Amino acid sequence: MLKRYNMQKMNVAKPIQLLTIFLLFEVSVFGQYDSDDFEDEYEREVDSEYPSIFHQIPHVEYNIPYATIPVECAKECFCPPTFPVSMYCDHRKLLTIPNIPAHIQHLYLQHNEIEAVPLESFVNATALREIDLSHNKIKSHKIDNGVFAKFAHLRQLHLHHNELEEIPFPLPRSLERLILGFNQISKSHSKALEGLMHLTMLDLCNNCLEDSQLKGIGFSSMRNLMQINLCNNKLESMLPDLPPSIMYLSLENNSISFIPDNYFHNLPNLTALRMSHNNLQEIPYNAFIFSNLLELNLGHNKLKQIFYIPRSLQHLYLEDNEIEVMNVTLMCPTIDPLNLSHLTYIRVDQNKLTAPISTYAFFCFPHVRSIYYGEQKISKDQQTQLRTPVFRRFLTPEEYEEAEDVHEEQDENHDHESRGSDNDNYLDPYFY
Ligand SMILES: *[C@@H]1O[C@H](CO)[C@@H](O)[C@H](O)[C@H]1NC(C)=O
Ligand SMILES: *[C@@H]1O[C@H](CO)[C@@H](O)[C@H](O)[C@H]1NC(C)=O
Ligand SMILES: *[C@@H]1O[C@H](CO)[C@@H](O)[C@H](O)[C@H]1NC(C)=O
Ligand SMILES: *[C@@H]1O[C@H](CO)[C@@H](O)[C@H](O)[C@H]1NC(C)=O
Ligand SMILES: *[C@@H]1O[C@H](CO)[C@@H](O)[C@H](O)[C@H]1NC(C)=O
Repeated sequence: MLKRYNMQKMNVAKPIQLLTIFLLFEVSVFGQYDSDDFEDEYEREVDSEYPSIFHQIPHVEYNIPYATIPVECAKECFCPPTFPVSMYCDHRKLLTIPNIPAHIQHLYLQHNEIEAVPLESFVNATALREIDLSHNKIKSHKIDNGVFAKFAHLRQLHLHHNELEEIPFPLPRSLERLILGFNQISKSHSKALEGLMHLTMLDLCNNCLEDSQLKGIGFSSMRNLMQINLCNNKLESMLPDLPPSIMYLSLENNSISFIPDNYFHNLPNLTALRMSHNNLQEIPYNAFIFSNLLELNLGHNKLKQIFYIPRSLQHLYLEDNEIEVMNVTLMCPTIDPLNLSHLTYIRVDQNKLTAPISTYAFFCFPHVRSIYYGEQKISKDQQTQLRTPVFRRFLTPEEYEEAEDVHEEQDENHDHESRGSDNDNYLDPYFY
């Protein structure tokens, strides 16, 4: 899934080649927008979460010799004979959790009507590695104290689409993926996430979290955390204290108005930052100067001024802001012909531009394939179009081949409201 972001072969261009590259640019007008937009993964159906037995097979670790595995299975559920460490109890209108036999490692209870998680159901279950309780009606006060913490081997806990009001606490230290999206979480024990040093993915999108609940949470103690999703919450500031291991940060649709200077300087591995639909008025000019970002989405904010664009960046989304000039001198103060920018796509519709980006930009961003200008806001109720709503460069045969490889052009004929493509799954907590 990360294929899209494999670094492109670096194009080492000597000055003469630069000129050639420049001459290759040609402007053409397209009525249709290249839908490279990926905003709301959550609007997609999440059927893919339905567990396939075959999905799980590579992860099996048979602790017990095959022949001695008991065929015990809760009567409400199905334990495949070929894969008896899994128990499937999903989509059965269950009101309570059945008794879990001791040998079960993968437990699927999603899409039922379960409200409580009692200790009794799990007295014998000590081998659990994965529990899926998503799409139920679980309430925080009906989770027995310590029920999850006792699973010393638990790696994945899926509790999205329930009625939780708090982050469950305590949790086992073995946890790697914790999925809590689509609840009503507005509270958290200050130690709720402490010591989860194996956690790589934390999803808390679509809850009611405010800054104060995340203050003392100690994100930096999660030393292996690669992805945090906190979209559709009520945050007003950036998360404090992120560990340097973070690669994907999703903060869309909060009320964040400010990014501290140097905030990203300690996040060298940050690959994708999504902060559309916030209240940002400016980005510190040097915010991304040491950054290795590939994707930056700052659409639907109130930005007036452009900022330094790191060379690593490939996709830049700035639609629906207040930008009047795409000042190339600011975006790209110097050109190093041996170390050119990787930028391929810019989206700047719904800003206040009166002219397209200066052609000088193409010396600095020689890999740019398309710039979507769309409509611009001139005054409150007036919209206007630049003469070229879409700039599109014809690709060299090598680039064309590469684009084919990554299916970049696959949505070419969709209009720009259409939703993201399969390439975005790396940020989707429900994709595995
Ligand atoms: C736990 O295991 C014991 C011994 O096998 C059995 O008698 C008991 O019913 C089990 N309890 C549950 C809740 O599964
Ligand atoms: C933003 O979140 C609110 C709820 O907090 C929701 O009603 C709204 O639809 C979301 N907007 C977008 C653009 O996702
Ligand atoms: C950043 O990524 C590199 C390469 O994947 C990895 O070796 C390194 O440990 C990561 N840094 C942190 C702080 O996780
Ligand atoms: C771009 O920014 C530079 C540096 O701040 C400034 O000198 C220049 O006038 C700006 N150009 C435009 C077209 O605004
Ligand atoms: C290219 O630039 C980046 C950031 O400016 C820097 O970290 C990297 O070392 C440079 N690479 C080369 C080959 O000069």
